[in-house]
Amino acid sequence: MSEPERAATPENHQIVPRKDLDFQFDQVPKYWFGGDPFKTRFFDAMSMLFPEGEKFFIECVRDYRDQVSDPVMQEHIRDFIFQEGQHGMVHTRFNDRLKKQGIEVDAITQKNKEILAAYRRRTPKWFTLSLTTGGEHMTAIMAHNFLHRPEIFAEADHRMRAMYYWHAIEEIEHKAVAFDVLQKIAGANYFQRIAGLLWETFLFPFHVFLVMRHMLQVDGQSSWKTWIKGFWWLYGPGGLYMKLLPHYLTFYLPGFHPWRFGRMDAMRHWLDVYDKDGDPIAAGDTVARTFS
Ligand SMILES: [Fe+2]
Ligand SMILES: [Fe+2]
Repeated sequence: MSEPERAATPENHQIVPRKDLDFQFDQVPKYWFGGDPFKTRFFDAMSMLFPEGEKFFIECVRDYRDQVSDPVMQEHIRDFIFQEGQHGMVHTRFNDRLKKQGIEVDAITQKNKEILAAYRRRTPKWFTLSLTTGGEHMTAIMAHNFLHRPEIFAEADHRMRAMYYWHAIEEIEHKAVAFDVLQKIAGANYFQRIAGLLWETFLFPFHVFLVMRHMLQVDGQSSWKTWIKGFWWLYGPGGLYMKLLPHYLTFYLPGFHPWRFGRMDAMRHWLDVYDKDGDPIAAGDTVARTFS
């Protein structure tokens, strides 16, 4: 297991609304992750869950928006909503191409929508905001690790890597928004704060695997060998989830705050390149080269 992440330095930190990014999805091969069906479908399944998940996050933060009197926090909430809205749109564009591969995108999205609506109906608002905060922690730890461990996306198509890097940058920019609303506005105690993450730690991967099972069946790639090899890639020594574990655990520290953990240098590098010519693919390529 690697060392926990170095502390972040969020000085001059901004949440920047960006839109109209082009990742040239039409040129991306079907198995864009090193030609590997399991690894590709793992990320494709997450992509399928993002649009509805991010809408849910927006709604759960909005529940508390009227109680926020601090104008800076109001601005952060507005930019968080904008960014998550953009993520949903880009992932929907990507997911549309999965339909052509025979994936039941609409049915799975509808099911996901119904599950999340049931949470909104049946559980208290502090809990759905805690789920949002937990989800934001999971996306933030993926973001920091994806950017600083180029080996994770070494086999991936560079346009898809660029899409995940862009999403990572914005997840880092707004990673403390839901957390601050939960702590400062909803007044959550320690157990209310960790409840959402605990719940999702088991349910999110389970949902991802259910979607993957459908995808791999459509692909004719659902042999037990594929699954065992894939689980080893995720959970084996040095596996993807094992890389994320130290940063994941920081959330349970009393006094945790998202800005206390996570390296920022790759992100600054990405911003330098992107701010010059607005090309997220070039920015992603440069980060991958610099940090490998
Ligand atoms: Fe997002
Ligand atoms: Fe987010």
